[in-house]
Amino acid sequence: MSLKERIATLEEELRSLAAETRDEAEQLRVRWLGRNGVVTVLFEEFKQVASEEKRELGQVMNRLKVSAQARIDELKNSAVEAGNGTEGTGDITRPARTEPVGSLHPISIVRQRIIDVFGRIGYTVSQGPEVEDDHHNFSALNFPPDHPARDMQDTFFVDLGADMALRTHTSSVQVRVMESSKPPIRTISPGRVYRNEAISARAHCMFHQVEGLYVDKGVSFAELKGTLDHFAKAMFGADVKIRLRPSYFPFTEPSAEVDMSCSICGGSGCNVCKHSGWVEIMGCGMVDPAVLTNCGIDPEVYSGFAFGMGVERIAQLLYRVPDLRLYWENDVRFLEQFNDGAFRA
Ligand code: PHE
Repeated sequence: MSLKERIATLEEELRSLAAETRDEAEQLRVRWLGRNGVVTVLFEEFKQVASEEKRELGQVMNRLKVSAQARIDELKNSAVEAGNGTEGTGDITRPARTEPVGSLHPISIVRQRIIDVFGRIGYTVSQGPEVEDDHHNFSALNFPPDHPARDMQDTFFVDLGADMALRTHTSSVQVRVMESSKPPIRTISPGRVYRNEAISARAHCMFHQVEGLYVDKGVSFAELKGTLDHFAKAMFGADVKIRLRPSYFPFTEPSAEVDMSCSICGGSGCNVCKHSGWVEIMGCGMVDPAVLTNCGIDPEVYSGFAFGMGVERIAQLLYRVPDLRLYWENDVRFLEQFNDGAFRA
């Protein structure tokens, strides 16, 4: 085989060189370009070539040497470092591996949406402890000492000294805000609450609330209704209507339950609204003057309204969740249905 033919064969071979690791690439370098490497040997032989052929052959040989160097460098760079498994630049055009993505829990999604709706109309977010004293959870809110809500049936008492319990609502946070700040107060308190109830499709011993409070001079019931109407439309769409039914809470007077036209059947009747066309979404009322007094706010000067809703309930209506227990089971088949894209790459 002439020198020229051997160069052509080597050029061919060069193209199919491969190395998995940097060590393998280094071995290739030795074999090709080392002291006894094939290219080096060729240059030795080149010395014997007749001088009239040297010019042309020399160019071909140099080209082989340069491309052997380049090819082996390239292999070295893309090879996996032997031993530590670090990848080199690899093939950056390969499609990425798709990993399963997580998603926010439906309760987190809906709680945030509620906060956003009120945030846009000027409500701040307030937080308080989940283990609460009797004063903030009950007494300041006008619960008489023998009120059934204080009973063991409803409240989880905690063995942490007298009168400590898991809060049964986040109205306790509103008491804390009124005690520590001056009107105007416009705040919502999202958080976990606890009630000693048997767990079923319709009830759980812990759930999430968002309660709201607005205290200022001249706050009226009409403003309460307007605020809640705005909330219902912002959450469920411009077509829904609300209606207020007289009710009773120790801390509001007058008090009302808020119904919304059923967002599922549009009011024509379905099993979610039990064919009434209306679904209950929250409680509300004007803050009882006695509560304002208990919290150091003069009811002769200020008035206020309050409302409170269950996040599970709102999520149930938004997403048609048939059983409240699903929120706590962490079944991925349930949870992944709420992937709203927030965590997608
Ligand atoms: N605290 C009440 C509850 O836990 C809800 C509510 C809040 C009602 C504010 C009226 C005013 O159900």
